[in-house]
Amino acid sequence: MIEPRFVNIKTVETPGKGKLSFFEGIHDIPFEIKRVYYITGVPQNMERGAHAHHELDQLLICPNGEIEITLDNGQERADVILSSPDKGLLVEKMIWHDMKWLKKESILLVVASDYYDENDYIRSYDEFISICKMENKE
Ligand code: TYD
Repeated sequence: MIEPRFVNIKTVETPGKGKLSFFEGIHDIPFEIKRVYYITGVPQNMERGAHAHHELDQLLICPNGEIEITLDNGQERADVILSSPDKGLLVEKMIWHDMKWLKKESILLVVASDYYDENDYIRSYDEFISICKMENKE
């Protein structure tokens, strides 16, 4: 099984006023942040993702609701549940990932190490596996 890499996100209670969570690129996560995006309004049990990236590293957080992330490095898999503002999951380059929205109103917040580039996506699982095999031979 892949050993998932988590980041503990500093979260302070502001009594009677909720919680506040924060992190900084390089200081708290292992890359500089160039892009932030978030996914909302996904129906319960819907799946998204189903891709890997050649170079991009990302940190995934589910500050509200519950989302299951399946990681796959071409040889092993791991299932991770995200459901808390203080837990981030690192999804590094060349990790195939699927995401399943377990609860409605779940939000997926993603911080990424680079700007959007469609050419960095690997959207075919067969292609992902052949790249993994090539890299293992080198
Ligand atoms: P996509 O990554 O395909 O979503 P998913 O794999 O989760 O279904 O992105 C959906 C659309 O949004 C696609 O047309 C590209 C666009 N997009 C951007 O323009 N910038 C971004 O930073 C992201 C993440 C997506």
